[in-house]
Amino acid sequence: MKAVTWQGPRKISVDTVPDPVIQRPNDAIIEVTSTAICGSDLHLYEVLGPFMTPGDIVGHEPMGRVVEAGPESNVRPDDRVVIPFQIACGNCYFCAQGLQTQCETTQVTDQGSGAQLFGYSELYGSVPGGQAQYLRVPHADYGPIKVRDELPDHRYLFLSDVLPTAWQAVAYAQRSPGDSVAVLGLGPIGQFAARIAKHQGLTVYAIDPVAERREMAARHGVLVYDNSASSVDAIRDATGGRGPDAVIDAVGMEAHGDSQSALAKLAQRSVQFLPDKLGQPVMDKAGVDRLAALYTGIELVRRGGTLSLSGVYGGQASPLPMLSLFDKQIQVTMGQANVKRWVNEILPLVEAPDDPLGVDDFVTHRMPIDQAPAAYEMFQKKDDGCIKVVLEPQRTH
Ligand SMILES: NC(=O)c1ccc[n+]([C@@H]2O[C@H](COP(=O)([O-])OP(=O)(O)OC[C@H]3O[C@@H](n4cnc5c(N)ncnc54)[C@H](O)[C@@H]3O)[C@@H](O)[C@H]2O)c1
Ligand SMILES: [Zn+2]
Ligand SMILES: [Zn+2]
Repeated sequence: MKAVTWQGPRKISVDTVPDPVIQRPNDAIIEVTSTAICGSDLHLYEVLGPFMTPGDIVGHEPMGRVVEAGPESNVRPDDRVVIPFQIACGNCYFCAQGLQTQCETTQVTDQGSGAQLFGYSELYGSVPGGQAQYLRVPHADYGPIKVRDELPDHRYLFLSDVLPTAWQAVAYAQRSPGDSVAVLGLGPIGQFAARIAKHQGLTVYAIDPVAERREMAARHGVLVYDNSASSVDAIRDATGGRGPDAVIDAVGMEAHGDSQSALAKLAQRSVQFLPDKLGQPVMDKAGVDRLAALYTGIELVRRGGTLSLSGVYGGQASPLPMLSLFDKQIQVTMGQANVKRWVNEILPLVEAPDDPLGVDDFVTHRMPIDQAPAAYEMFQKKDDGCIKVVLEPQRTH
């Protein structure tokens, strides 16, 4: 089969690799019909290089049809399924409380990490990912989300990651209708976080440097700002001088802006080109994130408000302004999204004929899998108005 593989920092290729096979009775194999590229894949593309091995199959936002089902899976051949980005058992201590990203059955204990993730480096178990024509799905007795046949893939595909991540970001902001929230970053996660917050009756402000991304959010009723210093003042003015009740950081460790972020970028760049044996310990102990968005969030949120981080951070030595966090009494919530915890709430919205979350206005590019290297480059550089790319692995041209 064809699969998208990591070959080195900023080097993605499409290779022919062996088809996956059932290895355990609760596995399933799916034929992938749609599979998206995520902002998290961009961290592998550059910063998390020391934890990747050339040839690793990437991708964690797939859906498709079951072609083979192990006897202990809960799917059948021809079922249409969406696959959550994390692999979880569904019945351990953490899964039972809706913390599937901490699943004790799949935790990557030798790396000190939470649950295994598809296509997401040694840190998360080196599980072959979903940007491929076929995917082996471990724990198919729990993970796969079965969906109906009538609607097109893009209505369901984002249940794999983006929608539950955005939903959790809003849930973790802990607000009520009438409250205000600012979303930092209008990539795929920020777009949906902003729309979900709006759908739940919040007033939503959002900041992103990219004009097309602001335009898309504005189409959905979000009040948008570029990332100049005056945007923070403008949002503060609009919220009675106090700042919004919550801020959602949908940017993460590769933020643009401020001098700390510029220095951290240099550090991230130099680590990714070290041999893995040298690069990994540096990242484990001394890795720093580009913190421009996090700093903006701390500055912007009102006193006693909530800072909900959905952007991924990976540094162990990132400097934090503890004085401001403590003095402003900010509550910080964060983490990878627990997909199955939220799916039942989201599913009726993606199926609703009036499309309340605007899923039909989200995908900007659909491409055959052979074009993955160009797709990654376009998404990273935000060329051609690119906001979300879906690869269609069964398409030949
Ligand atoms: N928590 C989870 O489970 C989870 C799941 C998926 C993605 N993520 C993370 O969410 C983040 C966003 O992902 P995405 O797919 O939307 O990716 P993305 O890279 O397209 O989005 C990031 C956006 O932030 C903007 N940005 C950069 N610096 C900024 C700044 N200083 N202020 C405001 N905006 C700024 C960029 O222009 C871009 O639009 C990534 O860190 C990704 O890893 C987390
Ligand atoms: Zn993702
Ligand atoms: Zn579990």
